[in-house]
Amino acid sequence: MKSPKPSAEAAQLEPGTSPRAIKTRRSFFSKLGTGAVLAALGSQGYALLRSLVPNVLYEQPRRLKVGPPDQFPEGATYLEDHRLFLVRERNTLHSISAVCTHLGCTVKMLSLTSPKKVRINGQWVEERREFHCPCHGSKYYGDGTNYSGPAPKPLAWYKLEVSPDDGQLIVDFSQPVNQNFRLTV
Ligand code: FES
Repeated sequence: MKSPKPSAEAAQLEPGTSPRAIKTRRSFFSKLGTGAVLAALGSQGYALLRSLVPNVLYEQPRRLKVGPPDQFPEGATYLEDHRLFLVRERNTLHSISAVCTHLGCTVKMLSLTSPKKVRINGQWVEERREFHCPCHGSKYYGDGTNYSGPAPKPLAWYKLEVSPDDGQLIVDFSQPVNQNFRLTV
């Protein structure tokens, strides 16, 4: 009787390799290939999901002492560690978040060379600074109101208070406040 013709793979194997061994080897390589494809898809999927989450997001402590009120001069002082602007207007202070409301990049403050009048919520206001986001071009007026770009809402303002213990200024990140908030110091 004529023996069956060996396959190409079998032809490459050592003589005497059993059909069962060939089948097992085929199955092994098939599983290995499937595993490699799944691993590649998995890592690409993870990279895609990760790219949707900005690296700049992080947990902020909820109440933070930032120093005595008189260390903040007239105008806006940027607290880099907390991504926050502390703004003094004579004897009042307020705080504006530097976290862009689009996807969380840090906005940059632009001091205007000369004040300009802008209309915000129906009221004319004299602007001395603006905030611009370097990521996708959102722009905010000096009070944090968004006026251009993809930002969906104004920059957050947080409540300020003076600690009764040591007189330091406390920023309460758990308490957003509206743009009328002022702490008199
Ligand atoms: Fe600021 Fe997109 S994160 S405009």
